[in-house]
Amino acid sequence: MHTIVWQMQHSINKQQLEMAAHYLQRGMQIAFPTETVYGLGADATNDEAVLGIFKAKGRPSDNPLIVHIAQIEQLSALANISYELEEKLMDRFWPGPLTIILPVKANVLSKHVTAGLNTVGLRMPDHPISLALIAESKKPIAAPSANRSGRPSPTQAKHVYEDLNGKIAGIVDGGMTGVGLESTVVVVENEATIRVLRPGGITKEMIEHACPEANIIVEADEETQEAPRSPGMKYTHYAPKGSLTIVKGHIDKVASYINSKIADANMPHKVGVLTFDEHVSHYNNQARIISLGSKDRLDQASSRLYDALRTFDEYQVDIIWSEATHKNGLGYALMNRLVKAAGHQIIQIE
Ligand code: TXA
Ligand code: MG
Repeated sequence: MHTIVWQMQHSINKQQLEMAAHYLQRGMQIAFPTETVYGLGADATNDEAVLGIFKAKGRPSDNPLIVHIAQIEQLSALANISYELEEKLMDRFWPGPLTIILPVKANVLSKHVTAGLNTVGLRMPDHPISLALIAESKKPIAAPSANRSGRPSPTQAKHVYEDLNGKIAGIVDGGMTGVGLESTVVVVENEATIRVLRPGGITKEMIEHACPEANIIVEADEETQEAPRSPGMKYTHYAPKGSLTIVKGHIDKVASYINSKIADANMPHKVGVLTFDEHVSHYNNQARIISLGSKDRLDQASSRLYDALRTFDEYQVDIIWSEATHKNGLGYALMNRLVKAAGHQIIQIE
């Protein structure tokens, strides 16, 4: 299959957008930018179209897809609202990086979207291209992240191209995405309880602030988690090709531990280090060092994480050592993804 790339980094090209929407209406798979990561979209009401997403990604069929809408009016045809908190969350955070799990209406969406569950994850992305494309297609659009299953999510069109060229009909290139980590997934369990199933750009602190009356439960920390409730959380994710280990502790000790590993390596240039601007100078620069930006700017670190993991693949490093961050605010989601990328390999230096 030839994959068309539509260039819209600077502005939306109306004619191209109509073409992309037309492809969606005809059951094809189109990748497009959202404010979190690139999504691989298809008509959520069309079985063949949705199956095509699983095929292109190599995604296990028991992992349900998020359905994206452009207007709140689309919601009532798809899902039921039971609680005021659900409305409040949508009101406060849509469009934005929040996915809400709701009871799905019968016989509207393809059964492959929900992977047999009686709920559906819905979100309204905060990105002009995704909103325009979904509106133009006049369909609810199922869209997981537009990476091959197991690879880091794409934050640039070139990442999508690397993973899916030849497997999908088109890619809308809208430049870099914003948040860089996938949306926060929540479910309202009763009139007073919100459960966060996957941390993301909408932090626990932001939900607390918007819904002070609610009890907010966050799934056990990724470092200690045993049985994830969001089906997608159980798969190996975001993995770079080199073996990634997180080293926690005081920066001086962390750096000297990592430097000793670089010194021991036969080929230091096959060793990667993931760090922050303030710490770059601590490391033996024979290794491949990537900074996520200032340690005080976790928004930037989040937006750069997946690109950094893919860059280590380009460098063909065998081993990657990474620093950790705190887990406040966005730090919680950032560490969640980093721990997954590391396949839970974490060393604590005393
Ligand atoms: O930011 C995002 O959410 C991106 C962009 C493209 O919108 N999409 C995304 O989709 O990350 P995906 O498929 O990579 O992740 C969807 C997550 C998975 O962890 C999945 O298991 C969970 O949402 N999910 C979907 N439907 C669910 C449901 N009914 N109940 C519980 N979890 C669900
Ligand atoms: Mg994904």
